[in-house]
Amino acid sequence: MITINFKKEIQKNVVQIFATNKPELKTNCLTPAQKKYVAQALKQCDFKAKEGEIVSVLGLEEKILVVGTGECPNRTAFEKIGGKLAGAIKDEKAAYYPLNAKNLSEEINAVATGLFLASFKFDKYLSKKKNEKELKDVTFVCEDIKGAKKQFEETKPILESVCFARALSAEPANHLTPLIFSKLIEKLADTGLEIEILSLKELKSKKFGMLLSVAQGSQNEPKVAIMKWMGNPKKKTFDIGFVGKGVTFDSGGISLKPGAGMGDMKQDMTGAAVVVSSMRSFALRKVKNNVIGIVGLVENMPSGSATRPGDIVTSLSGKTVEILNTDAEGRLVLGDCLWYMQQVYKVKKIIDLATLTGAVMAALGEEYAGLFSYDDKLVEEIISAGKSVDEEVWRLPMNKAYDKMIDSDIADMKNIGGRLAGGSTAACFLHRFIKEGTSWAHLDIAGVDKYEKSRPITPKGATGWGVRLLNELVK
Ligand code: BES
Ligand code: ZN
Ligand code: ZN
Repeated sequence: MITINFKKEIQKNVVQIFATNKPELKTNCLTPAQKKYVAQALKQCDFKAKEGEIVSVLGLEEKILVVGTGECPNRTAFEKIGGKLAGAIKDEKAAYYPLNAKNLSEEINAVATGLFLASFKFDKYLSKKKNEKELKDVTFVCEDIKGAKKQFEETKPILESVCFARALSAEPANHLTPLIFSKLIEKLADTGLEIEILSLKELKSKKFGMLLSVAQGSQNEPKVAIMKWMGNPKKKTFDIGFVGKGVTFDSGGISLKPGAGMGDMKQDMTGAAVVVSSMRSFALRKVKNNVIGIVGLVENMPSGSATRPGDIVTSLSGKTVEILNTDAEGRLVLGDCLWYMQQVYKVKKIIDLATLTGAVMAALGEEYAGLFSYDDKLVEEIISAGKSVDEEVWRLPMNKAYDKMIDSDIADMKNIGGRLAGGSTAACFLHRFIKEGTSWAHLDIAGVDKYEKSRPITPKGATGWGVRLLNELVK
């Protein structure tokens, strides 16, 4: 992980970084001779200061890097520049001289964010670490560093929690069973979170019927983890609750998935990873709200004890469900957790996150998460929070017609709606476990949970998508 520092003095013997939105470089951090040399180099390279354009000037005692920001760079542009720099610089140390005097701490915060998030690595299982040179230490240099330093200290727990979520999400299923996951959550009590773990015995006595029907084919017992952050202890109720799908491996169960790509299903617990990591960041940031998180941790496996297609189970809410496809398991896990959150903790505003359907992935790819809700105001809040942190969502429809598609002849509902509109029928299934008066939204993060190719601030693989959005929302 990269170290970010703040200093007033010009740094010597390190790479010098300057960002600019003009083809020429204006700075008083270089000597006239250096400036002349850099100006020549920029001319030779026909530098246009386009966003992310980098010119590396060699031949002086220190390497100088000039990076274009584009016309009017916003926060996201500066984050991407930070990300590009992390990829482009192979020296260990660098200094960054902000040029945007108007919005100094915002620029520094964004560039530092990009540097930090882009330098994430998941290499714990490599017995020989790659011997690549990389940027380890960046110092931001400016007169008034106090504000910038303070702002970054507030952002850092969020960034660390994004990386925490990525690391969890990337863990293989043999190293992250429901039990191991729950132990890891218990450790987060150190941050001030109140943690409760429900065991198999408790889940049975409380009658988490749908969740248990998913878990019953696996040797690994399920767990449900409840995390509470009381940032406003005078108030006894929760301002908001988050529910996460934590299927530590989704083989499909008896409705077995095809072999190709099945390994990716170790990431079917990303909703839970994002909820847990966000709760961790709320505690570290000591947010002033009361927030609750619940994650359902189960493994979906085929075996002699597994649920069969056609089985009918009774949910925690008492409603019965005909399970026609054991691979539509996420909704079964979430339905019971959503009900528990409303029934026991009286939460009135809930967002769930889940790698729920291939249909949403097919529709939106890696660009947007699918957002489903009947609450226009909550939708607006989520869309705008997503825009400001570049974790974007796209609203997809819910209505009575989609809901009707999950009616069953012999039970209160079935767990699949057929070939069409898979994202919407899944959302309608969840809605059947939402009480009247609860404001609820569902984020289907299948697609955004993992990138095929590296992006400026997100290395390929697990993205930790959602931690920043939830923080923005709670803010
Ligand atoms: N975990 C999958 C959804 C998924 C698929 C996430 C691909 C990420 C990438 C989910 O449990 C599932 O299998 N859904 C089925 C539902 C269907 C049987 C109604 C699907 O989407 O195919
Ligand atoms: Zn599945
Ligand atoms: Zn799944």
